[in-house]
Amino acid sequence: MSEPTRPEPQQEPRPQEGPRTPEESAPQPSRRALFGMLGGGAAGLAVGAAAGAVANSALAASGPLGSGTAGASRGVVPFEGAHQAGIVTPAQDRLHFASFEMLHSSGRDELISLLRDWTAAARELTAGRDIGSGAVDGPLLAPPDDTGEAQGLSASNLTLTFGLGRELFADRSLRGGGTEADPFGLRERMPASFAPLPSFAFDLLDPATTGGDLCVQACADDPQVAVHAIRNLSRIAMGRARIVWSQLGFGRTSSTSQSQETPRNLFGFKDGTANVKAEETKALAQHVWVADGPEWIRGGSYLVARKIAMTIESWDRTTLQEQERVIGRTKGEGGPLSGGGEFTEPDFARTRTSGGTAIDIAAHVRLAHPTKNHGIRLLRRGYNYVDGNNPLGQLGAGLFFISYQSDPSAFVTVQRALKTDALNEYIRHVGSGLWAVPRGVGAGEFVGQALFD
Ligand code: HEM
Repeated sequence: MSEPTRPEPQQEPRPQEGPRTPEESAPQPSRRALFGMLGGGAAGLAVGAAAGAVANSALAASGPLGSGTAGASRGVVPFEGAHQAGIVTPAQDRLHFASFEMLHSSGRDELISLLRDWTAAARELTAGRDIGSGAVDGPLLAPPDDTGEAQGLSASNLTLTFGLGRELFADRSLRGGGTEADPFGLRERMPASFAPLPSFAFDLLDPATTGGDLCVQACADDPQVAVHAIRNLSRIAMGRARIVWSQLGFGRTSSTSQSQETPRNLFGFKDGTANVKAEETKALAQHVWVADGPEWIRGGSYLVARKIAMTIESWDRTTLQEQERVIGRTKGEGGPLSGGGEFTEPDFARTRTSGGTAIDIAAHVRLAHPTKNHGIRLLRRGYNYVDGNNPLGQLGAGLFFISYQSDPSAFVTVQRALKTDALNEYIRHVGSGLWAVPRGVGAGEFVGQALFD
């Protein structure tokens, strides 16, 4: 006699296939669903206003169930808006970043359907709801619409930010040799500024963590929520695109709002002090949001990701004085070595009585500073990572650097200026990617829709 594979339900058995009645389809207002419903309402109010998005996040975070104490980890960041969420919305604590490639059998139709399906899923996920009929409420004889590991967890301020790689706009080389011209029919829609990143001094890029046709940046205050989102988007992509590499990150290394405390990177220094912040509307318009070019990218941005390995074992053996010289700031408060507190502007001309400038000529903050880079500012949004360890007993630690800029050339200028950076002795760039991030999604739209109109 065959054993049942799962316990029988106590109540009437559910139909195993076929359409469900409206009552069955309507999800019970679970804690999670209630939370999501509030998030959806907030999203409606916030369309077209990034500042509103921040405010709504705080509103949702204050606890729709009356908790009041749960804080930001319970919040909902609206998915819709003039700009995609996950750029200026407050940086969360955790990251799961994924790069995808379109399958060779996939063309324009598959790309459109994938972006449609991803958008529909993202609307649910960012509101703290399960996808489709959820993990346990669907027919028993079909795989669930949602993988289930986020059941019972709040939205955790999840943001999903989507980027399009330059390869989507170019010819595709075929596996058996030859090329397919413009497989997605997008070549004419490519912005002129979307040039590939050049190779930089000291690059040691691993092709296994470089490039990709599409990227998804999932940030949340709960790692399981971020991983759940990428896992489900990957599942939805099956047959059209596949993950080629991904990166987990913990501990943000920047602040994107003046209300956030400056966090620390794995060198132990405050990181994000001089970052562009959400409150700096003029600076965002100048340095982060794309203002010209094809309509689909206006209001969007360009995302650069650099996987930067940090030789923390060498770093940990250097003196505090050397560490501060390399960065150009104090390790404690994070103030510039020219004097003052964390937010005092560095004075690069200031000299020490013992000779030389207070901020070394090769210090990171000197070379990265806007005054040394034609006024350029980047919006940094990176995360610490540790990918296990090597056989020598060294941790695979680093910074998964992410920056948003209105033109990829802004990153190129700053990265080139870092050629003589004293920091180069302690870091190696091992992965890289550049993606165009379409403007935000309006009601009923899918990500990048204007690209195909
Ligand atoms: C592992 C690699 C890196 C580490 C550990 C690091 C660390 C830091 C630290 C501690 C600061 C000072 C605090 C702050 O203003 O945020 C800083 C500033 C900065 N970094 Fe980096 N950074 C790294 C890579 C990069 C890269 C690749 C870029 C861009 C190409 C970059 C661009 C900047 C900029 C623009 C600033 C602000 C400079 C200013 O306006 O004062 N950093 N970084």
